[in-house]
Amino acid sequence: PSKNVENGGLFGLSSEEYGHAIGLDASERESTVSITVVGASGDLAKKKIFPALFALYYEGCLPKHFTIFGYARSKMTDAELRTMVSKTLTCRIDKSENCSEKMEQFLKRCFYHSGQYDSEENFAELDKKLKEHEGGRLPNRLFYLSIPPNIFIDVVKSASQSGSSKDGWTRVIVEKPFGRDSQSSAALTRGLKQYLEEDQIFRIDHYLGKELVENLSILRFSNLVFEPLWSRQYIRNVQLIFSEDFGTEGRGGYFDNYGIIRDIMQNHLLQILALFAMETPVSMDAEDIRNEKVKVLRSMKPLQLEDVVIGQYKSHTRGGVTYPGYIDDKTVPKGSLTPTFAAAALFIDNARWDGVPFLMKAGKALHTRRTEIRVQFRHVPGNLYKRSFGTDLDRATNELVIRVQPNEAIYLKINNKIPGLGMRLDRSNLNLLYASRYSKEIPDAYERLLLDAIEGERRLFIRSDELDAAWELFTPLLKELEEKKIAPELYPYGSRGPVGAHYLAANYNVRWG
Ligand code: NDP
Ligand code: BG6
Repeated sequence: PSKNVENGGLFGLSSEEYGHAIGLDASERESTVSITVVGASGDLAKKKIFPALFALYYEGCLPKHFTIFGYARSKMTDAELRTMVSKTLTCRIDKSENCSEKMEQFLKRCFYHSGQYDSEENFAELDKKLKEHEGGRLPNRLFYLSIPPNIFIDVVKSASQSGSSKDGWTRVIVEKPFGRDSQSSAALTRGLKQYLEEDQIFRIDHYLGKELVENLSILRFSNLVFEPLWSRQYIRNVQLIFSEDFGTEGRGGYFDNYGIIRDIMQNHLLQILALFAMETPVSMDAEDIRNEKVKVLRSMKPLQLEDVVIGQYKSHTRGGVTYPGYIDDKTVPKGSLTPTFAAAALFIDNARWDGVPFLMKAGKALHTRRTEIRVQFRHVPGNLYKRSFGTDLDRATNELVIRVQPNEAIYLKINNKIPGLGMRLDRSNLNLLYASRYSKEIPDAYERLLLDAIEGERRLFIRSDELDAAWELFTPLLKELEEKKIAPELYPYGSRGPVGAHYLAANYNVRWG
């Protein structure tokens, strides 16, 4: 039984009275899904959640009976919420189509309730409104906590106090950051579990919803040519690169409390690493996959300070335009040492990956925006053509690149003969460029994840033991960096980041791709 059944609450409904009054048991009743976006007035709700819900509606992926509620402290009427949401919606799925009619229909299903996050009374009012919309159908409820994490527990506590239910499911999506370290993350999990069962908690890491991250397992496990090479025997190093060409603009207040290691490495890049490196799961079921991922995380060697380089962007003038430094942001405390860039070498202590460096690099305000996985293979033993590459044999090694974004692509760098009578080689790409191969728009990560949460598919959400293992890996390093007040290496806005990252890679004979 889920906790909402035991505790009652908005996290369940007194739908019993409706169902029983009309003489139907749960299996015979029509169901409905209510999606409540808590923090609906915020940036993420506007930028990602409402547009993703509209895309799902447009594609016909939402159930026949659904209602969307926005909840936040800001005062707004239903009409005002609809105006706010309408500004965020686009016809991106099929740009040629006029989707204004669909937008109208979608907006009619959106409502708003204003309330405090710690008020049982306000959540009871929401509960009442939800029930009216559910109209006696089997009530399923999805709550999306799009709010700062320090108020997660207030919300689940207050929401769990009103009403009671014996049927329908309740799921709660929680946004990152899940704590700042092992201790605070465990406290957050304990707090949530006072009111929710683990299987009701959907911890989102939106990188897991990205098309090419989702494709990693297909690439590995459904092609004969890759999996046999997927080990220390053939792979020299793996690089996980996240780079943004803009700073923390507007989010400095949040960012300064976390820094790039917590914001990107401990979650997005580490999740990709776990999927990349895991053993073949028993099946593609959520628990089988998460069991394998957690094994990888628990096999990783503790991160050493000497295997990490941190940086922070500084102001830079280019072409007459001055780009502000991180500490020029008014919401960032003067003299902040928070890293906006980090590079790290990680190792997995198991038979498959012994000795293979997994190099991570994540940074803001760099020269380009890209997220990539680069797999560099070993040299060909006794390469007959090595003379063609001079002394730089690294140039001759194969490299598989999975470009997660932008311009999604998978390409393999191979050596090829330049056509002609001579014998000259060059490096060419076997190239799968998604935009050329697939005409359909790639869904946003939030669309896939919201749909999975509605369908109860947990594969792409983080289980609590995965989260614990991820924090265990990074917490000692973060503590040491903060206790020793290690100063980040400054790099100009729009540059390639600190030179230290190159020395770090060179320690392991690696050149960043
Ligand atoms: P916001 O800062 O915009 O907050 C969302 C809403 O929460 C606000 O509109 C506000 O609503 C309420 N709120 C904000 N601060 C407080 C506070 N101190 N106390 C009580 N209520 C507050 O956050 P985002 O929308 O940017 O992000 C939501 C969640 O998603 C956060 O956990 C964030 O870390 C995470 N996230 C955000 C991303 C983004 O791109 N924005 C990306 C990845 C994760 P009101 O005042 O109306 O109650
Ligand atoms: C978020 C981080 O999780 O991911 C942001 O908090 C970052 O700092 C964002 O900008 C990047 O997401 P995407 O999908 O735009 O690459």
